Amino acid sequence: MNRRTSAMLVSVAVGCSVLTITRYATAMADTDSATAEQPTPRLEAQQYFSTTCATCHGVQGDGKGPAGKALAVKPPDFRSLKWQKSIRDEEIEQAIAFGGQKVGKSSLMPAFPYLAQRPEVIKALREIVRELRTTKRSPTHR
Ligand code: HEC
Repeated sequence: MNRRTSAMLVSVAVGCSVLTITRYATAMADTDSATAEQPTPRLEAQQYFSTTCATCHGVQGDGKGPAGKALAVKPPDFRSLKWQKSIRDEEIEQAIAFGGQKVGKSSLMPAFPYLAQRPEVIKALREIVRELRTTKRSPTHR
């Protein structure tokens, strides 16, 4: 490799790392502005559902999330009308905040102490659970 080629390679390498650093800095700035804005309870609940609840309950609420399938007590099928009719709103909210045991169900449904302090997020989660009652969503339930 002659001197010119290696000088060029070095500058390309430096250029690349500067680019990477700039991209990283931009990404960090984006994250900052995202956390500065308070997400709505609904958004927070949706994120919570898809990242946490869905591991057991499944994204569609069918109870067949990757972790849910392995449990001794299976999570209920939120899509089922029969199940939806069997449970009151308060029970759903209590189960989410304080765990299954609190409402006479299995302790495999964990308590979420963080959410217990956020009633507006619990309410939004309960609405999400209700809206899963069928896999098809009506236009008013987006
Ligand atoms: C570790 C797995 C797991 C996670 C995570 C989990 N659940 Fe559950 N959940 C269960 C199981 C298992 C049951 C069934 C308990 C039973 O029937 O005894 C259940 C039951 C429920 C019920 C019905 C309670 C009742 O009284 O029948 C609701 C509502 C519920 N979960 C909502 C949620 C929400 C919302 C989240 C996220 C904040 C969540 N779950 C996270 C495992 C989980």
